[in-house]
Amino acid sequence: MHRESNHQPKIMNHEIRRGMNMIMEKAQVLWNKKLGASYYRIGLNCSRKFISASPGQFLMLRLTDRTSPLLRRPFSVHRIIEGEKGIEILYRVVGEFTGRLSEVKDGEWVDIMGPLGNGFSLPENIRRIFIVAGGIGVAPLLFLATHILEKKMAGSSNIKVFLGARSKEDLLCMDNFINLGLDVMITTDDGSEGETCLITNPVEASLKEKQPEVIYACGPSGMLKCLAGIAETYKVPCQISTESVMACGIGACLGCAIEGKDEGRYLHVCMDGPVFDSRDIRF
Ligand SMILES: Cc1cc2nc3c(=O)[nH]c(=O)nc-3n(C[C@H](O)[C@H](O)[C@H](O)COP(=O)(O)OP(=O)(O)OC[C@H]3O[C@@H](n4cnc5c(N)ncnc54)[C@H](O)[C@@H]3O)c2cc1C
Ligand code: FES
Repeated sequence: MHRESNHQPKIMNHEIRRGMNMIMEKAQVLWNKKLGASYYRIGLNCSRKFISASPGQFLMLRLTDRTSPLLRRPFSVHRIIEGEKGIEILYRVVGEFTGRLSEVKDGEWVDIMGPLGNGFSLPENIRRIFIVAGGIGVAPLLFLATHILEKKMAGSSNIKVFLGARSKEDLLCMDNFINLGLDVMITTDDGSEGETCLITNPVEASLKEKQPEVIYACGPSGMLKCLAGIAETYKVPCQISTESVMACGIGACLGCAIEGKDEGRYLHVCMDGPVFDSRDIRF
């Protein structure tokens, strides 16, 4: 009761803000390419509003010609397509929606709503940045790295990328980061590529050698929790992109609430995040 009455006015404000900033439209599928066992990249031809999304923002996607599943699903912007023709999403097939999405053909249409949420904050002239990705968590981080370089907020020698995955087959975007001229550290749980350990191990080791000014991360909650602890110990600012099951994406259903650092205070991933300062989240 206390929780609801605390948050009601805030949500209404957000709804108004979202109403002004986001749009809904039909986007034509440019490609829907399989990358490996369960990963795909889908290119969408969409309007300028989506192309001007900032790294870490997401969109809610719905299939136009299907009745099931009814609810839209959230996906991060993965890349702005060259020539600003649209955006690309990197997704993993995990259930009904993503399974059906994988069957969508070039030239078909999907419903998109966005851009939504608060992305990464990007201070200029940072001399050392760590980008840490776990599995499909890499999706918004390639966009982030590209954006930082294109906007000349930092040079390629200032950015170190840490890519962790269960296995070689789950390692995504390694070549994309290398082609950007970035130093990439790889770990896998089973040792099929890179070092056999959790990605947080080399992060901490590199951090001990030379501290970054900021860590940007997205991945499984265990990885984010561990990174938040490392960031706290070494007093490094850490921005994490979080996930939660979302029904609306616009602050109306309250389904995406996660606990904030102050007991009893809840944050909503769709409107307060998905990117948070790691100190603001209770893991
Ligand atoms: C802000 C945000 C950005 C996201 N960006 C991406 C992205 O770029 N690429 C991508 O592949 N996925 C992304 N996701 C996750 C994606 O939304 C889900 O994988 C998708 O909704 C699953 O739908 P489904 O019907 O296929 O699976 P479901 O049948 O709905 O779920 C299958 C399994 O996945 C779990 N699951 C579903 N949604 C989530 C979620 N949001 N968080 C944690 N577990 C979940 C379910 O509990 C279940 O175990 C993002 C989620 C959020 C909140
Ligand atoms: S309030 Fe509905 S998804 Fe966040």
